[in-house]
Amino acid sequence: VVKIWWAAPSSVDQAADMELLSTAEMVRLNRLRSPADRGRFSTAWALVRRTLAEINDVEPRALNFTRSCELCGHPAHGRPRLVAGGPAFSLSHSGDRVLLAVSDTGVIGADVEMSGRDVTRLARRILHTRDPRCEGPELVRMWVRKEAIVKATGHGLARPMKTIELADPPHGAQVLDIPADDGYFAAVAIIDRPPLTR
Ligand SMILES: CC(C)(COP(=O)(O)OP(=O)(O)OC[C@H]1O[C@@H](n2cnc3c(N)ncnc32)[C@H](O)[C@@H]1OP(=O)(O)O)[C@@H](O)C(=O)NCCC(=O)NCCS
Ligand SMILES: [Zn+2]
Repeated sequence: VVKIWWAAPSSVDQAADMELLSTAEMVRLNRLRSPADRGRFSTAWALVRRTLAEINDVEPRALNFTRSCELCGHPAHGRPRLVAGGPAFSLSHSGDRVLLAVSDTGVIGADVEMSGRDVTRLARRILHTRDPRCEGPELVRMWVRKEAIVKATGHGLARPMKTIELADPPHGAQVLDIPADDGYFAAVAIIDRPPLTR
């Protein structure tokens, strides 16, 4: 089962959200300069903490996360997940939206992007030679689907999107378009068994 939560950074109580963050999250927050980035970050992690706390029946501040990389062992660039185990989750932020997706099985990747982005010049980097040609908003939609896949595997943008054929995604990823507000596209990818090597 996959569940989806949305938040809009412009309409949350950011002071209340910041009180839920861990020391490590405050360090990350304080590295961000722009108010928009800061708002997206605190909204996102407060949403993660509130949601997973309710699922695990603990206090939001009691949860511990790791970002160590399951693929190469790097301490900080991996897929965020709960240290003590629990549902897989993925979060994404763009514009005034934060998306959180939680799956009770396997691993999950989520992505939201503003649909109006001009990605024309990125087409060659997004599309696989066997993907259907597309442009404009449809190309953004392809990007969102593929970013969801590389977030589920933990590779992130270290795996070029053009190496992924949407009709035959790696590790049997299942890709779902998620309904989003006007101006945004969102997708999730679910993989039953996480890949543990590069
Ligand atoms: C994952 C990645 C594509 C996200 O891109 P983005 O433009 O920041 O976009 P989003 O807003 O959609 O996602 C950000 C969230 O993805 C999550 N994330 C970070 N690294 C991730 C990874 N490796 N896999 C899955 N999710 C990841 C985080 O929760 C992050 O939000 P936070 O920093 O506020 O906690 C990008 O950060 C990336 O490519 N990271 C490098 C991964 C890497 O070095 N891989 C090497 C593997 S050996
Ligand atoms: Zn790595």
